[in-house]
Amino acid sequence: MNVLLIGSGGREHALALSISKSPLLSKLYVAPGNPGTAAIAENIALDPADHRNIIAFCHRMRIALVVIGPEAPLVAGLVDELEAAGFPAFGPSKAAAQVEGSKGFTKDLCRDFSIPTGAYERFTSAEPAKAYIRKHGAPIVVKADGLAAGKGVIVAMNETEALDAVDMMFSGAFGAAGAEVVIEEFLDGEEASFFALCDGERALAFASAQDHKRVGDGDTGPNTGGMGAYSPAPVMTDEVSARVMREIVEPTLKGMKARGAPYKGVLFVGLMIGKDGPKLIEFNARFGDPETQVMLPRLDEDILPLLLDCAAGTLRNSPVRLKAQTALTVVYAAKGYPDAPERGSEIRGVDKAAAMAGVTIYHAGTKQDGARLLANGGRVLNVTALGSSVSEAQTRAYAAIDVIDWAGGFCRRDIGWRAVARERETS
Ligand code: AMP
Ligand code: GLY
Repeated sequence: MNVLLIGSGGREHALALSISKSPLLSKLYVAPGNPGTAAIAENIALDPADHRNIIAFCHRMRIALVVIGPEAPLVAGLVDELEAAGFPAFGPSKAAAQVEGSKGFTKDLCRDFSIPTGAYERFTSAEPAKAYIRKHGAPIVVKADGLAAGKGVIVAMNETEALDAVDMMFSGAFGAAGAEVVIEEFLDGEEASFFALCDGERALAFASAQDHKRVGDGDTGPNTGGMGAYSPAPVMTDEVSARVMREIVEPTLKGMKARGAPYKGVLFVGLMIGKDGPKLIEFNARFGDPETQVMLPRLDEDILPLLLDCAAGTLRNSPVRLKAQTALTVVYAAKGYPDAPERGSEIRGVDKAAAMAGVTIYHAGTKQDGARLLANGGRVLNVTALGSSVSEAQTRAYAAIDVIDWAGGFCRRDIGWRAVARERETS
């Protein structure tokens, strides 16, 4: 069968590599793709926002499944349009993608279906929001309702910061995304991400991961899309994972069906694991980036039937098969990221690094210029390694980083520190 994958990041390179290994696949197209996907699939210069052209392409190439990587096409309703044209798609409908598109929607779902999360209230003007903050005190979390490119959340450690965040959001700093604000209880604990495959009715646990959002070593500096990750997340024991499925994922599927928006695709559950167990921080309606780059190397079965079953509503019960190994990825970013990444510097040695034992390199913001590979974005490469422990995966990933010759790049040197420290304690 022919498959079309939408997106161009490291997540999509990882998805493309897994899909390309499926015996069911005839041909894989990636729109628009990157130099990494070009080596294993055919890149197509289609704009993910141009739904009409995507559907025309599906007709022309007899596409049997469209897999959607990023959130923007989901929130824009690409799945609805594809399905109306008769093409199965992996990803939620526009209505179901609201779990990511509106924080207020998700918080109300939690309230109505008893899903554990922080106490909250929704506001459409500043004064009542400020009164709520004064009543509850800091620390407290102020969130723009809509999609704000990962920047719409202020974890305020004092009251002034929280009040300023309210003014900032209602003054239009995030445009329409900040027209409504959610104020939420501060949750203490360890963060982790959990992914479940969903077919509208049923959910199947996929894998867990932990990422590093801050740009600098020791989790310092501004937030980014993610500077590295590892899978599994040690805090996500079998018991915690089972609780997340039972207390969060399953009620969410039930709730979404009751709301007339059955959830299909992958549900990305952002969690805080605290003293009373797992609580929901947020949902995303898609795979994580860079979490996918550490989950897929662990997958020990064909990914394509799983994706097809989610789209068709025929998801099985038996667990997803994962390797017992740990995967760790280090994001190699362009200097200046996240504010103003420098473009155009040359990267050498990627093939040599990729040939090292257990190492896979996923492209994100790269560009091919004849024989030269250039930086063309913020997060540029995901240098990923498998190992029998987090420490081993970390050592392998950094050994591969050190083989890459790129004067214009930088990376964190401590990806996995928390898990590595835990391994040292227990060994
Ligand atoms: P979000 O975009 O909702 O994932 O929020 C971004 C980050 O803010 C999360 O990864 C957490 O580190 C932090 N955060 C969000 N909500 C809370 C909360 N209620 N308590 C503590 N930290 C939070
Ligand atoms: N790494 C976080 C995300 O994909 O949203």
